[in-house]
Amino acid sequence: MAYIQKRGISPAMVKNFGLGAAPDTWDSLRNAMHEKGFTDNELFDAGLVKRGKQGGFYDAFRNRLMFPVIDVRGNVIGFSGRILGDGEPKYLNSPETLVFNKSRNLFALNLAKKSKSGYIILSEGNIDVVSLHQAGFDSAVASLGTSLTPEQARLISRYTNEVIIAYDNDGAGLKASQRAIGIMEKLDIKVRVLRMSGAKDPDEYIKTKGPEAFRKLLEGSENQMDYRLRAIREKYDLSVTEQKSDYLREAVELLARLPDEVRRQVYAMDLARELGLPPDVIVNDVERRRDRLVKSTFRQTQKQQTQPEKQLQPPSRELRYDDPASAAAEEGIIRLLYLEPSLISTPGLPPPEEFSAPALGRIYDALRKRIEKGQSVSTDHLAGELTGDELGLLVAILQKPETLSRSRQSIADYIAKINEQKQLRSGGTDLMALRDQLKKKKGYEG
Ligand code: CTP
Ligand code: MN
Repeated sequence: MAYIQKRGISPAMVKNFGLGAAPDTWDSLRNAMHEKGFTDNELFDAGLVKRGKQGGFYDAFRNRLMFPVIDVRGNVIGFSGRILGDGEPKYLNSPETLVFNKSRNLFALNLAKKSKSGYIILSEGNIDVVSLHQAGFDSAVASLGTSLTPEQARLISRYTNEVIIAYDNDGAGLKASQRAIGIMEKLDIKVRVLRMSGAKDPDEYIKTKGPEAFRKLLEGSENQMDYRLRAIREKYDLSVTEQKSDYLREAVELLARLPDEVRRQVYAMDLARELGLPPDVIVNDVERRRDRLVKSTFRQTQKQQTQPEKQLQPPSRELRYDDPASAAAEEGIIRLLYLEPSLISTPGLPPPEEFSAPALGRIYDALRKRIEKGQSVSTDHLAGELTGDELGLLVAILQKPETLSRSRQSIADYIAKINEQKQLRSGGTDLMALRDQLKKKKGYEG
């Protein structure tokens, strides 16, 4: 209680987060749980006790402020413990158990998912999260001692398509932000990064400058493109000609990756203004670079078609493809429809039942229904209609390269491939049946 008070955590937050304490002893929890009828083996499996060299058991968490980690369904699945005072490690998290996997869960997402704010604030420390919630920012979460993982990003994308990163204000925080941006961009999550000056983290910022100042910061946080451009700019001294051209090259490379042509041009013109160069020159530069990128993506797509079968299989083993060649074409159709929904009018698109892979059929069906109703599609929108595995599969499909410049032709090719494989498959079974009959006639075994 003294530590909680010292950190300025209110009784309401203690209750909200279910905070507790692990005393500085080796057996308090173990004894208390024995009284409740739990065995050492059960406590060990839950990650609450450890086994000593002599075979005895002792409390895993000692002298710590305890934060239960609660999943989005409301189950306590593990714990984080912050040391009371100074010492190493600052945070201790439950080990991997049957129910706890720290790369697939986020601290406080159980609370943040109910927020009305429309975005999620991603911070580093559990104390930061508590402090944010206490100040009214009820959509704050933290990853559990790892930098953001793709699984965590996918989990976030079920609840929002906008994330504001509020990592610690140091080199490690900056690096982690950049990694997180890359991961979330792939899922179509809009990312902004908070720039706190004069404080090391959100907790300190709120304590020294107040919640209002933090709110202003939130409203002004930059979008990811501005942020990345600025991150590049800060590497160079623009008064040195050579560095100026290095900056230009790197910025053009970044802009060329923007899918939207108008945005590419707007940013290119800003860049030109900043460097005092003619706008058309920079716009052209970006477009030429884009062209080359698109072409090399196309070559990659071609190469991929000759890759070994293993790489064509979905991420989840449950969803294994029986006909990888057909499945690749089915994936292609999904990817194209996702990127260019107007292709839904393509003649000859097969019904979902004709997809060789049932999971792909379901993804396709969900996608098709939304498009036909004139609704917009994003992994966000589809999340509600797909299982976790299917959503994971969709994300993987969307990460594979696809060129849009000849999309009408590509989708027709995919359709043809699916039909061809279907015939092969049915022809194949007939042949097998024929062979079986022949064997019987000749009196062969097996
Ligand atoms: N961390 C961790 N396990 C958690 C939460 C955080 O291992 N469950 C790690 C993070 O990866 C990061 C550090 O601990 O490296 C976070 O530290 P910090 O932001 O300083 O945590 P706070 O809760 O803000 O701690 P305090 O304000 O008490 O310093
Ligand atoms: Mn912190």
